[in-house]
Amino acid sequence: MGTLLSIASGKGGVGKSVIASNLALQFSRQGQKVVLVDLDIGGANLHILFGNLSPSPTLSDFLERHTDSLDAVVHTISWAKGLGYIPGTGNTLGGGNLLHSKKLRLLRHLKNLDADIVILDCAPGTNYHTLDFFLAADVQITVATPDPTSVIEVYRFIKLAAIRKLMTHLSVRLHGEVRHSLVNQEFSNIQEVLDACSPTHEVQKTEALAILGTFDPYFILNRANARHKFSTSSLQQVLLKFLGTELVVLGEIPHDDVVTHSIRNYLPVIDWAPDSPASIALTQTFYALQQRLLMPNPDRPSPAEAIQHTTNS
Ligand SMILES: Nc1ncnc2c1ncn2[C@@H]1O[C@H](COP(=O)(O)OP(=O)(O)OP(=O)(O)O)[C@@H](O)[C@H]1O
Ligand SMILES: [Mg+2]
Repeated sequence: MGTLLSIASGKGGVGKSVIASNLALQFSRQGQKVVLVDLDIGGANLHILFGNLSPSPTLSDFLERHTDSLDAVVHTISWAKGLGYIPGTGNTLGGGNLLHSKKLRLLRHLKNLDADIVILDCAPGTNYHTLDFFLAADVQITVATPDPTSVIEVYRFIKLAAIRKLMTHLSVRLHGEVRHSLVNQEFSNIQEVLDACSPTHEVQKTEALAILGTFDPYFILNRANARHKFSTSSLQQVLLKFLGTELVVLGEIPHDDVVTHSIRNYLPVIDWAPDSPASIALTQTFYALQQRLLMPNPDRPSPAEAIQHTTNS
């Protein structure tokens, strides 16, 4: 069972697939077996980055049970040893329509893929499936550009992911009336969820806070430029203040036209132009990620430890 990484953004077109493919290539260059998975089921395009314009088989062959093995829909890349990808599909299986049972089956198989690292390239948007795939990973990475719309969308995405994480946890732990009223409400912020945990269920409230404390997604700013007014620290402050979420910045990738050239040549930019500013920043981001994978925050309790702690105290 490999390490699952998810990459999401809320807004589309911000560079998730570019970042996912370059990180994947870096992992494979270090001798790791890597599988990239295009989870944008309705609007897949990851395969194009590898020059495969009409891939077969695709993820839908697995979802529609044409094969029982997810490994069977992995495409290898002749020039990159250890790197493979699962193409999504542009056909009728819109992400929002994915049946719950199909999602669970896919998640189970993703965790058992024959790989050291599995990178989930999530669909844009904030539907429950995207949030669930994002949260199912061991390591979660969010991406935005400095555009205000992209920053607002990534904030919204992280907020909804935190609420989804909390609700998923509470719906398993709670029973009866409290559970019923919680799972049937729409929440727009974390405080609302905490307030809804009845005062007679202080344990759940404390437990909920502990769960939130374990949600520390990573962040990559893409297409940064010297003129942008956006400061990553202001996003970090807002998230800490309103969600209690610590957003760890992995890197800033500059806007670099060479990225577009590399896509036109069907190669990740770190291969196409290794000395370009974007490639240097992507490589630094990779090292920052690798460092975090080797040494996760030692002060941060695992979810199980957090629950143990709150129920014992
Ligand atoms: N650092 C960069 N500098 C310049 N252009 C970039 C950079 N990163 C991405 N791009 C451009 O942005 C486009 C979109 O990138 P990409 O396909 O990775 O986005 P995405 O978030 O995966 O989109 P979608 O949500 O549609 O899957 C690329 O085709 C490329 O032209
Ligand atoms: Mg993409």
